[in-house]
Amino acid sequence: MKLTYYGQSTVELVADGKTLLFDPFITPNELAKDIDINSLKPDYILVSHGHGDHVANLVTVQKNSGAKVICIAEIHEWLGKQGVTNVHGMNIGGGFNFEFGRVKMVNAVHSSALPDGSNGGNPAGFLIYSEGKVIYFAGDTALTYDMKLLADENLDWAILPIGDNYTMGADDAIKAAAFINCKNIIGVHYDSFPVIKINKEEVAGKFVKAGLNLKLPAIGESLEL
Ligand code: NI
Ligand code: MN
Repeated sequence: MKLTYYGQSTVELVADGKTLLFDPFITPNELAKDIDINSLKPDYILVSHGHGDHVANLVTVQKNSGAKVICIAEIHEWLGKQGVTNVHGMNIGGGFNFEFGRVKMVNAVHSSALPDGSNGGNPAGFLIYSEGKVIYFAGDTALTYDMKLLADENLDWAILPIGDNYTMGADDAIKAAAFINCKNIIGVHYDSFPVIKINKEEVAGKFVKAGLNLKLPAIGESLEL
């Protein structure tokens, strides 16, 4: 499985030959100015919640690619009003088998409204089961005891927010790694705004000390999972 990072929480995963794009937020992100959104042609777009830093380029990329959007029911309804009809609505706790594998929508502790003020439903995270691997995309979330429900999922990789202020910071992400029983962590949701700037070396040191494998890919960089 190949992962490419596009800044903030925007992650692309190639799973069983299909391209999944999570939370597209690129053009408003100064740090991602070298990424051309017209080059993104996902088969699926997964949306964790309605905040601008997760949906800013959702409609544009969907219209460029024709991708199927996987999101919570309220965002499904909002997308219909934006003229996006290729949408698979789900809700927390539900799973569905897509052509690349299974997606399960899981709880996140955060808030969710869309840029025009519409109700974004509840914020969510995703479990992706594909190619015999299990990946957790946490979305924007606080540390929560619900993460302990994932401890027996045999997670291979977890994509966790680490920027603090709006989500977990590094210290709570380290606790989350223990709750979910996963040592391989990709840190996201940092540096895009002044209040979520991190000291990467300090954060990396904390993860090493906790016995965890933290990856902080550069924007545009790919990793083999
Ligand atoms: Ni958010
Ligand atoms: Mn966010």
